[in-house]
Amino acid sequence: MLSGIVAMTRHSQVMGKDNQLPWNIPGDLKFFRSTTLGHRIIMGRKTFESIGSKPLPKRENWILSSQHCSDNLSQGSDVRYFKTKDEILEAISLDSSGKKNFIIGGAQIFQVFWKEIGEFFVTWIDHDYEGDILFPKVNWDEFHLQQERREIDPIPHSFCHLLRKNL
Ligand SMILES: NC(=O)c1ccc[n+]([C@@H]2O[C@H](COP(=O)([O-])OP(=O)(O)OC[C@H]3O[C@@H](n4cnc5c(N)ncnc54)[C@H](OP(=O)(O)O)[C@@H]3O)[C@@H](O)[C@H]2O)c1
Repeated sequence: MLSGIVAMTRHSQVMGKDNQLPWNIPGDLKFFRSTTLGHRIIMGRKTFESIGSKPLPKRENWILSSQHCSDNLSQGSDVRYFKTKDEILEAISLDSSGKKNFIIGGAQIFQVFWKEIGEFFVTWIDHDYEGDILFPKVNWDEFHLQQERREIDPIPHSFCHLLRKNL
């Protein structure tokens, strides 16, 4: 089972602008770090570029891109490129490390892996931001709410843990 983790505005599902996050919510970055630390994060090529094309430390960074490849990466690098979704799913099936596999975005990658994601950590932001990347149109009724924690600083937002129904 894959896990998803994302932050987006509640009303418009905005998740990015100019290849960056449109907001600065330190508590959400902290939550993302603590949730994913020691595990594997899987992202699209544009999201990898948005974090400076450097791996997030203490996590395996897997990147989906039809063009890039791992050939020029140093051995032992925490970065690995994959050309297809199926290559990623196969690599996960061969892994016995016990690490969780977090799909971290962006929008294209959530669309690609939507059906494989069994749990979602969603930060719903109760403020409208302009953006050019929206979370894909999906049926959230496929999930039920397991847990919710409300915060108001620096803007109101809710940390929600969702589980896929009928798993
Ligand atoms: N709010 C959040 O939690 C959050 C999280 C992550 C990202 N973001 C934001 O989201 C935005 C980026 O999202 P995005 O949707 O534009 O891009 P993305 O999903 O990060 O990356 C898209 C790229 O992934 C590769 N790709 C997608 N589907 C593929 C497939 N089926 N097979 C092979 N490669 C595939 C392609 O790379 P190639 O072109 O190299 O083939 C494509 O251009 C940024 O603004 C970022 O800040 C927000």
